[in-house]
Amino acid sequence: MKKITVLPGDGIGPEVTEWGKNVLQAVANKFGHDFQFEEALLGHSAIEATGNPLPDETLEKCKNSDAILLGAVGHPMYDNNPNATVRPEQGLLKIRKELGLYTNIRPIKLFDELLSASSIKEEILKGADILFFRELTGGIYFGQPRERQNNGTTGVDTMVYHKYEVERIARKAFESAMTRNKKVHSVDKANVLESSRLWRETVQALSKEYPKVEVVHMFIDNAAMQLIKDPKQFDVVLTGNMFGDILTDAASQVAGSLGMLASASVGDKVGIYEPIHGSAPDIAGQGIANPLATILSTALLLDIAFGMKEEANTVIQAVDKVLKAGYRTGDIADVLTAKKMILGTAEMGKKVIEFL
Ligand code: IPM
Ligand code: MG
Repeated sequence: MKKITVLPGDGIGPEVTEWGKNVLQAVANKFGHDFQFEEALLGHSAIEATGNPLPDETLEKCKNSDAILLGAVGHPMYDNNPNATVRPEQGLLKIRKELGLYTNIRPIKLFDELLSASSIKEEILKGADILFFRELTGGIYFGQPRERQNNGTTGVDTMVYHKYEVERIARKAFESAMTRNKKVHSVDKANVLESSRLWRETVQALSKEYPKVEVVHMFIDNAAMQLIKDPKQFDVVLTGNMFGDILTDAASQVAGSLGMLASASVGDKVGIYEPIHGSAPDIAGQGIANPLATILSTALLLDIAFGMKEEANTVIQAVDKVLKAGYRTGDIADVLTAKKMILGTAEMGKKVIEFL
């Protein structure tokens, strides 16, 4: 028996996790597994119910489970209120920290059928396959001090990296590169930032243990440009917390749509599997959100958390078949997609299960 905690979160989170859960249940039925699901609150919905974006009860449930499936957190009422001291995102950052999820793995892979969904030219995209390793529990997201000073007229965040933090994620990136094309792009801002110079020095030192892996050090500004200009030059990309946040949203255009991108946040214990996209308040509650990023996150969950490779591949294949059959959600439809092929969240979820 495997225990899966589902954290639907906010906005479209509950709509997409419902289908992630249904797909996992269908996989369990097909392969004869026993998955047990339990829901818990996180983010704005948790603040509304308890005043706390990460209630103790949620954290306890997560710690006692084998894997966590997360939707999204965030709500516009905080975005335009910089003075709100309790915010949904604090819950997400805290759970990442509490569970020690220092490695955020974000695969950027384009399904051929979606070549035209991207705003990048097809010939630039075709064949691109990138695996991001984003550091997730350090850097400017967590450095101290982070506060207001001078009667609130100065805002301070601190970008800090310790050698051990760089080393442990760099090792994961190098190990992964050994199973792929033996190339790592390490992205930093070492021409300006001291924390980046430590990053670069640490990656350089570690690379000696992996002589077969080619390492390219790239500045973040250049990397952002190169990613759009020639995404095929990248294989494994290793970077810090904030650079990785920004770069992976940009990289979504290499995968057609943000609605297709899955991620895994892992450390030494239980991991969180979640779509990269946010809570998308503009379309929440309408039943039109793309559930495929969440469904693809369940494939990562099956593979990484449970070692169920065949089951994971079955999910990816099912998504591929649905796309090949011509079905789309609004975000990945193009001008040629017939209206009747454009599905809502539930219809798309059902299609994937049908093709499992
Ligand atoms: C992500 C998100 C989060 C982040 C937000 C919601 C705190 O953008 O997972 O990429 O910045 O890490
Ligand atoms: Mg982000």
